[in-house]
Amino acid sequence: MLRRTVTCGELRDQHIGQTVVLNGWVNSYRDHGNLIFIDLRDRFGLTQLVFDPDNGVSQAMMDAADKLRNEDVIAVKGLVRTRVGGPNPKLATGTVEVVVQELEVLSKTANPPFLPDDLGKLPNEEIRLKHRYVDLRRPRMQHILGLRHRVMQSTRRYFDENGFLEVETPILYKSTPEGAREFLVPNRHVPGSWYALPQSPQLFKQILMVSGCDRYMQICRCFRDEDPRADRQAEFSQIDLEMSFVRREHVMEMMEGFARRLWKDVLGLDVPKFQVMGYRDAMETYGIDRPDTRYDLKIVDVSELAAKTDFGVFKTALEKGKDRPRFNSKKGVVKAIRVPGGGEKLTRKITDGYTEFVKGFGAGGVAVSKVIAGPDGQPMFEPGVAKFLAPARQEWLGALGLKVGDTVLFVADAYAIATKAIGELRQKVARDMDMVPKPGVEGGPWNFLWVVDFPMFERNKETGKWVAMHHPFTSPRDDQMQAFLDADPEDEVTIESIVSAGYDMVLNGSEIAGGSVRIHNQDVQSKVFKLLGLTPEQAKEKFSFLLEALSFGAPPHAGIAFGLDRLIMHLVGTDNIRDVIAFPKTQIGQDLMTGAPGFVTEAQLKDLYVKNVVPEAPAKS
Ligand code: AMO
Ligand code: AMP
Repeated sequence: MLRRTVTCGELRDQHIGQTVVLNGWVNSYRDHGNLIFIDLRDRFGLTQLVFDPDNGVSQAMMDAADKLRNEDVIAVKGLVRTRVGGPNPKLATGTVEVVVQELEVLSKTANPPFLPDDLGKLPNEEIRLKHRYVDLRRPRMQHILGLRHRVMQSTRRYFDENGFLEVETPILYKSTPEGAREFLVPNRHVPGSWYALPQSPQLFKQILMVSGCDRYMQICRCFRDEDPRADRQAEFSQIDLEMSFVRREHVMEMMEGFARRLWKDVLGLDVPKFQVMGYRDAMETYGIDRPDTRYDLKIVDVSELAAKTDFGVFKTALEKGKDRPRFNSKKGVVKAIRVPGGGEKLTRKITDGYTEFVKGFGAGGVAVSKVIAGPDGQPMFEPGVAKFLAPARQEWLGALGLKVGDTVLFVADAYAIATKAIGELRQKVARDMDMVPKPGVEGGPWNFLWVVDFPMFERNKETGKWVAMHHPFTSPRDDQMQAFLDADPEDEVTIESIVSAGYDMVLNGSEIAGGSVRIHNQDVQSKVFKLLGLTPEQAKEKFSFLLEALSFGAPPHAGIAFGLDRLIMHLVGTDNIRDVIAFPKTQIGQDLMTGAPGFVTEAQLKDLYVKNVVPEAPAKS
């Protein structure tokens, strides 16, 4: 085989006059009468080849070249010369071409399902995933694979420089209640027993701290049997970390340094210092714990003003949980968003849709009021809801900073519902108003921020039970420790108010990392398990190894995990997580290329002591 001396992305003017060998795929084929032009492709780029009978190419070779088709794999030897047809500015190699002297056809292709270029419309994703090997040949996909590789290299360098040890942790693990549904694997040695695939290496990394590792990192796989979404896969990768003898600010500093390094290494950009936002502020102002601050649209709590109106919708909402403290999730509130210029862009049809939209989050509807110019030229509410708002017109104008042309949207309900509904509505309005910058415009905007001071616990909507907002191993914030240890599990208001030592890194409205200071004290850990409804026996059965480890000299420790796939999505500017994973799965967890998951034989099941209860499930014979 003609073994390559240069890649298809390498040749420049300085190579003119050299004889080179290239290997690659036929990217395009043009027959100009007696001349044949081929663009040869590999992952490094494209190079133009010329088959020219006047330059010593035999008729046999011309015939062979004539039979080449897109995606055939060839090797050629030839002479580099200035591109006779004039330079092609679109190609890095566009000032030169290679006049072929020898051709070797390494592999003929069957008719390809599609051509791997980024120029035309892509085939639907199903076809791309089924023939992923063709899809991955596209320059865009090669760019993403390359960038992902660089991120991993840069990650390892950064953490190595900072004294982290890369340690691998088991994939065959045991079932632990960390939140998501688990994937199970039967163990044939102990009939009826099962491994679970890890949702994250959380407890192993904590135990590594007890083991004296001091600082751990791993680029690891996590498995969560959740329905995949645009930014979620059942099998995904984390950059997982843990540090001993640190407090939350140390972890945050180290991770901010890491994100800065990545953006510098990968995009050549300097990222400014991150903003730090309290969870309450995030919820109050943005209605979500991962605010997208690339656009303004702040939420304002107008409960006090709303209480002065006679608007039935507001009054009913404010009656809810009247005796509850300010930030209790069940207390009634009225929230508003001023949409500058909404009067024109947010048509009646659009705002009517908002009512349906917020109903999806349990709210009753959206009250809409446009701000128009009154007879005195001053802003006033357009008739409608206006009659309720009018008496306190000046106060409303002041509280919301209203101008002519604005639209105001109101949602009234219990705090948790109103906040969630208006937070989601805010994002929808931003899209409708074209306020969201397209992802991946190089140079940003990159709005990084930390969200801190999360509640320790929240109520599970379905079961009504307490669940850990991050995970059960997250510590209360130092100043909350005593209040937590003293709290009566029945005292809902107090439990809801305990703040954790957790932190999330948010980028442009997406959670790219989450972590916390951990509990390193057995009593505190036991109390958390108790609150979450685990009996001491259950806690022992599931977590005796952790509780025991904590009792044998556990250093204070804290950590975090980045969603690697999500990081890459931001860096390459895509909102589809499947684009950044070489072999991703579909919405129903299938790998369309290999056909996984598949059926197994009865004999295999028997070996594992597993019985098929699916009626007429096709078994492999
Ligand atoms: P958490 O569950 O918050 O924390 O996960 C950390 C980060 O992983 C990413 N992520 C996902 N990415 C793709 N698909 C998914 N299904 C998915 N789920 C999560 C997110 C998230 O911020 N052990 C803790 C970390 C710690 O406390 O140190 C953990 O796993 O970007
Ligand atoms: P109704 O009294 O149900 O006719 O509602 C009057 C207006 O208030 C309509 O525009 C509704 O969409 C809106 N609305 C209903 N429920 C709520 C709510 N919980 N918060 C804000 N607006 C609401």
